[in-house]
Amino acid sequence: MAEFDPHILEEKAVPPPEGFSRRARVGSLADYRKLYQRASEDPEGFWSEQAELLHWFKAPTQTLAWNPPHARWFHDGTLNVSYNCLDRHVQLHPQRTAMHWEAEDGQRVTLSYTDLYEKTCRCANALKKLGVKSGDCVTIYMPLIPQLAVAMLACARIGAMHSVVFGGFSAPALSDRMLDAKSRVLITADGGYRRGRIIPLKDTADTAVGKCPQVEKVLVVRRTGEKIKWHEGRDVWWHELVDAASSLAPAEPFPAEHPFFVLYTSGTTGKPKGVLHTSAGYLLQTMWSTRLVFDLREEDVYWCTADIGWVTGHSYLVYGPLACGATLVMYEGAPDFPVKDRFWQIVDRYKVSIFYSSATAVRAFMSWGRELLEKHDLSSLRLLGTVGEPINPAAWKWYHAIVGKGRCPIVDTWWQTETGSILISPLPGATPAKAGSATLPLPGVAARVLRMDGSEVVPGETGYLVIEQPWPSMMRTIYGDDERFKRDYWSRIPGKYFTGDAAQCDKDGYIWVLGRVDDVIKVAGHRLSSMEIESALVSHAAVAEAAVVARPDEIKGEAIVVFCTLRMGFSADEQLRAQISDHVANVIGTIARPAEVRFADLLPKTRSGKIMRRLLRELAHKGSVSGDTTTLEDFSSIEKLAREVGHDEE
Ligand code: PRX
Repeated sequence: MAEFDPHILEEKAVPPPEGFSRRARVGSLADYRKLYQRASEDPEGFWSEQAELLHWFKAPTQTLAWNPPHARWFHDGTLNVSYNCLDRHVQLHPQRTAMHWEAEDGQRVTLSYTDLYEKTCRCANALKKLGVKSGDCVTIYMPLIPQLAVAMLACARIGAMHSVVFGGFSAPALSDRMLDAKSRVLITADGGYRRGRIIPLKDTADTAVGKCPQVEKVLVVRRTGEKIKWHEGRDVWWHELVDAASSLAPAEPFPAEHPFFVLYTSGTTGKPKGVLHTSAGYLLQTMWSTRLVFDLREEDVYWCTADIGWVTGHSYLVYGPLACGATLVMYEGAPDFPVKDRFWQIVDRYKVSIFYSSATAVRAFMSWGRELLEKHDLSSLRLLGTVGEPINPAAWKWYHAIVGKGRCPIVDTWWQTETGSILISPLPGATPAKAGSATLPLPGVAARVLRMDGSEVVPGETGYLVIEQPWPSMMRTIYGDDERFKRDYWSRIPGKYFTGDAAQCDKDGYIWVLGRVDDVIKVAGHRLSSMEIESALVSHAAVAEAAVVARPDEIKGEAIVVFCTLRMGFSADEQLRAQISDHVANVIGTIARPAEVRFADLLPKTRSGKIMRRLLRELAHKGSVSGDTTTLEDFSSIEKLAREVGHDEE
């Protein structure tokens, strides 16, 4: 815990702009506190009132059945997620724009709610033809194109779960996830674009499917038109099957707790965990928080820059905004391609009013300079957001002053794949912001910072962030591994949800999330596990033993540093360094490519044989080691590593 630097707690509060507060759903701190109190005095009453935001086929009479750590929310109600995201908006305003999609190469598509509804119905019928049934899990491995959202909504329409795997993951990562989810159908594309290059998604998918005997059908969107291998009888073109299917697919009712999706994320072991979310609770809280945190209105143009392969894309690019009937922007490519002001072109073109991005993106914009923004009219912006990692005060202030011109509140939103929706965030018209703090928990969220013994920390003391009460969008279990769910999240501080984050509370009750206390690494906000990278490393012929730690990175927040020992017969040279990095990228994906690979004769270990990561972290960070090293098995290993680091930096 001593590793976290608490200096940031001194930031001054920045009140919400007055004009914003006047029109906001919650317009003052006093109103927020009233709402918070109302929700904590009677959480079930509070959430059952909010449940009216959803369209129910059968309204629930029960709110919560809590058998710790298993919650069932609204469990006697029935609904259809895709009906909530589409049909009810089509009935009210069929021609409203649901989505402006822009491709990396500049191609543009605008879909109304009716268009999106019809495409979803066709896809739902096509999936049924492929034999997909309620309760099956369809894996989706696609670029950021409208068909990805359509595929998700189509699964939801027929009660099938989806497991979206980020298009940057490699074949082994994809096959592990397909095997775990027992998917019989995969939806992919011939390829995607990234910075002008074609990413051969179908080739990767073919390799992955080769390891998954249960996969029967692969539905393929033609995106790039490149030549691909075709497996007769298994592969099916989207444009042949989906486009020819009927655009009528009545939405069936499913129970509130019907499994909705699995999203794999990294934890403390090498095996990614399938976080399971269910239907009504997830949809309700993502919709409710989209309205509250982004203060979303009918006239807004809302852009969340996340990829749908991560939870932010699920909750705040697809389900939250569509459930609200919003007009959203989806952009396929990178922020710096072909020009570094690509994002500002898009804001200007579509008159984006709400812009939700990552701290890494903000730091990159900052390093590219303010001149890039000045070329564009950004006056449509009225609210800015960040997510995924702590934002340093300097980046926050730049975002506020240069992007928001001082008139846009910033919502620094804390949440996780497991929480499903935002739990800690300013309400933009109510909560004075402090640069670097996610501020206060949303109404209905019992967030606290505790010591390991369950007692509360005092202001300025670092503790563990926990959630004390169940909330509707909480994960229900780890798919296929309920024991791990109980162990990882509910037994560290018994009876409370353990987030894995270190945090502090200041004298105003503001929460400052400092970083992870486990082996999760956040590179550009993407979540990776050091154990997963280590197991990729030791699968390389040259690597005997490996330890992975993070060091701070000015743009990406954290960077991956590898320490490894080599097998006999391999020599530590630049070529091997590059090979080992490539190997990690091939096994997991390019997001896991190490920033540095360091070789050592021995790794520092305790007498019981545990690798001393704290020392390695310090070494990766500062280049030297202080503190207690008396439990080291071999002191010389540390000295040698330190010398190597020193040498490299000369
Ligand atoms: O460490 C916290 C960090 O991201 C973790 C969750 O990662 P993931 O499941 O990939 O979800 C990211 C998008 C919701 C958290 O445990 N984190 C997320 N948001 C913030 C944050 N750290 C500080 N401030 C935030 N606003």
